Amino acid sequence: MTGAIVADGLVKTYGKVRALDGFDLDVPEGSVLALLGPNGAGKSTAVRVLTTLLRPDAGRATIMGVDVTRDAPAVRRMIGVTGQQTSVDDQLTGRENLQMFGRLSRLPRKAAKVRAEELIERFALTDVASRRTRTYSGGLRRRLDLAACLLSRPPVVFLDEPTTGLDPRSRLGLWETVSELAREGRTILLTTQYLEEADNLADTVVLVDQGRVVAKGTPGELKSLAGGGSLEIVVASADMLEKTERIVEAVVKGAPVVNVRALRVTAPVTDDTELLGEVLQSLGAAGVRLEDFTLRRPTLDEVFLALTGEPEKDGVR
Ligand SMILES: Nc1ncnc2c1ncn2[C@@H]1O[C@H](COP(=O)(O)OP(=O)(O)O)[C@@H](O)[C@H]1O
Ligand SMILES: [Mg+2]
Repeated sequence: MTGAIVADGLVKTYGKVRALDGFDLDVPEGSVLALLGPNGAGKSTAVRVLTTLLRPDAGRATIMGVDVTRDAPAVRRMIGVTGQQTSVDDQLTGRENLQMFGRLSRLPRKAAKVRAEELIERFALTDVASRRTRTYSGGLRRRLDLAACLLSRPPVVFLDEPTTGLDPRSRLGLWETVSELAREGRTILLTTQYLEEADNLADTVVLVDQGRVVAKGTPGELKSLAGGGSLEIVVASADMLEKTERIVEAVVKGAPVVNVRALRVTAPVTDDTELLGEVLQSLGAAGVRLEDFTLRRPTLDEVFLALTGEPEKDGVR
């Protein structure tokens, strides 16, 4: 079975820059996939090819089985796209923008109006719908943009850095909207530079670097690629450190590290909560008093570092 979004060996070069360099993807229908990568990784180029805005030099891609270069109009009817720049017209009101997008997606005038009102309500734009969009905040604009891309009820939605530049509250609001779209069974591909965003929204995360997929998995799987987590135990007094070290050593695989000054014992662990329960019990039985007992899982930042040998760049486009 092929997925809703499939890319096979996509190549796109700009002079010497290989923006896509053998890019592969397979997104099952109804799932959310995050393309995660630093600035310049090739995320937007991939989105442009998949949404028929750009022809690849090589490779092929399909949306719901339809080839993006051979049958671009059919593909366009199945997708909604929001780009890094919002596409709303500043001079029009929110409502007028939505009606215009409705007609652009070939809805009859009346149907476009009805659908626009539905989306205004759904995206909580009622209060601002008669204001020109040039007065909108960044968060409002993104919401309107997202509403616009849903006018024709597309089964496949592309969101290119939907929350870049938004304040934390608007970002959370947008996350909620995206999750809702996912619950409706749409296939969603979003790109992001935010590890936290991929972690929150996506079923599958694909790490992109220099035009290629460098890793793929659930957020949890990617985190374990970076080498599991670590167990951190802080004890109440120094005389308990040795006992703690012995107990931890007996249960976990790696050697614990003891920091006498911080009264802390740290050990690498795989994600096995049963073992952790065992450690906790043994410590209690041995009369060790704990100040802190934490399992720390690696962040996707650390995964990125582990897989690309490069810290995730914090650039803004
Ligand atoms: N129209 C273009 N002309 C020249 N180079 C481009 C163009 N679009 C993208 N690039 C280059 O291709 C690479 C990938 O860009 P892009 O897909 O926008 O990355 P991302 O969206 O991950 O930040 C970058 O090196 C970028 O400078
Ligand atoms: Mg981009």
